[in-house]
Amino acid sequence: MPSAPDTPLIDAALAARGHAYAPYSHFAVGAALRCEDGTLFSGCNVENAAYPEGVCAEAGAISAMIRAGKRRITALVVAGEGPPACTPCGGCRQKIREFAAPATPVTIVDPVGAVLLTTTLAALLPDSFGPDHLA
Ligand code: THU
Repeated sequence: MPSAPDTPLIDAALAARGHAYAPYSHFAVGAALRCEDGTLFSGCNVENAAYPEGVCAEAGAISAMIRAGKRRITALVVAGEGPPACTPCGGCRQKIREFAAPATPVTIVDPVGAVLLTTTLAALLPDSFGPDHLA
């Protein structure tokens, strides 16, 4: 049986998406993550006139988490356009991997919060390289 939508995390991702700075792509993205202690952090994409300097929503959420002294992601929601589902880019998958276990649920929603995809970090980034490799 599919689990119920994670409404608080979806709402946080949608709220973050509302602050996206995406004047070049016009593709607003919000991301929200939950930590082990239940706290939520969010981010939005921040583009730049020098295009490669833009930052993804997921990276912003991770920065907010680290700034707050947290280290473990237990769930992640990305709110983008779609369908198709706005799955995290390759670089963000690796950034998420640093702080999340392979089984961590990743949910992608559309601009009104409808779930487009429910997956895991392991499915998005199989056989990943992580901190354990350097232990
Ligand atoms: N983007 C994100 O912020 N997260 C994703 O998961 C995919 C793409 C942003 C980057 C850029 O600002 C815009 O979406 C179009 O690629």
